[in-house]
Amino acid sequence: MDRGVSILKRFEREIAQINRAIEEIIEGDLGRSSQLLGYAALSEGKRIRPLLFLMSCRALGKDSEEIYIQSTAYELIHVASLLHDDVLDNAELRRNRPTVNAIWGNHLAVLGGDNLYVTALKVAAETGSIGYVSLLIETVKHMTEGQILELQNSFNYELDKGTYMEIIQKKTASLIAAALKGAGIFCQVPESLGEALHTAGLYMGVAFQMMDDLLDITGNQGSLGKEIGKDIKEGKVTLPLIYLLQRERLKEIEEMEKGRDPERMSPLVEAIRGRILQDGIANRIKGEAQKLCEKAEGILRRLPNSPEKGYLLELNRFIVMRDF
Ligand code: IPE
Ligand code: IPE
Ligand code: MG
Ligand code: MG
Ligand code: MG
Repeated sequence: MDRGVSILKRFEREIAQINRAIEEIIEGDLGRSSQLLGYAALSEGKRIRPLLFLMSCRALGKDSEEIYIQSTAYELIHVASLLHDDVLDNAELRRNRPTVNAIWGNHLAVLGGDNLYVTALKVAAETGSIGYVSLLIETVKHMTEGQILELQNSFNYELDKGTYMEIIQKKTASLIAAALKGAGIFCQVPESLGEALHTAGLYMGVAFQMMDDLLDITGNQGSLGKEIGKDIKEGKVTLPLIYLLQRERLKEIEEMEKGRDPERMSPLVEAIRGRILQDGIANRIKGEAQKLCEKAEGILRRLPNSPEKGYLLELNRFIVMRDF
């Protein structure tokens, strides 16, 4: 069985309710575009971000219909970023189905992403809180900056770990951090607690992307629902490759720099996968991600005791143990 499936099973009811809320927003709002957007937003993802928002709200003492509606903003922003990401990465498989760009083409995928970003902000605006909406605006800004920085470093085999960390903090951790901090703002907690939640979310988000980048190389396509080795094929230099290149200048890299042809990259993916598993790089990265999650845990433990605090800690642990 996939590692972590049982943790998410615990949230089946919440996930069903999140999905219903997304469905209402998309169908109520978007008319004829709803087929493409429904395909993207209602497919089977983990719903980690809305779950983190929900559990944080409940851990902070708020439980109402409105938290479900607000939780959708985090999933809609996420899905918007995935629509754009799949265009940037030339991806054809997501959540075990063809990507939106593979079916409807890049143009509609970009417009669909734009639409979902704005829909998410419209949902957030229903709170009437400028501070809350500003957090989400700032988050989307950071996410796009991270993607820009990543794209500017395609095929840059000199990429250093510091820049890699900046990329993943911006493109991925900022939204996970916003789910926690957003709950703080929504529940009107003192600013210092909101900031602490934000920091915890950043640790979790960086660990999340480190694991995603590792799974891109060492994972299994069936459970991950995405093409394996895609980062290498697209010239994305992620932490496993940075560590490997610190040890040896791979002759295959020179081929890659020359060719940049994704079709000819499969043997290279296999060579890198083998080395990363053999050389202990996979364990080193897992260990680092684990440490970040422990730091997040240290912060989350300061919340008052409640079942939801326990669930937040479980979601945090899931980040490192997952294989999908
Ligand atoms: C994928 O996110 C994109 C990253 C930021 C790594 P998820 O792994 O949360 O994707 P879904 O929502 O479960 O499909
Ligand atoms: C994407 O990172 C991060 C986003 C903010 C969308 P990846 O490109 O690694 O995400 P996947 O692996 O395609 O899901
Ligand atoms: Mg991608
Ligand atoms: Mg990408
Ligand atoms: Mg990835």
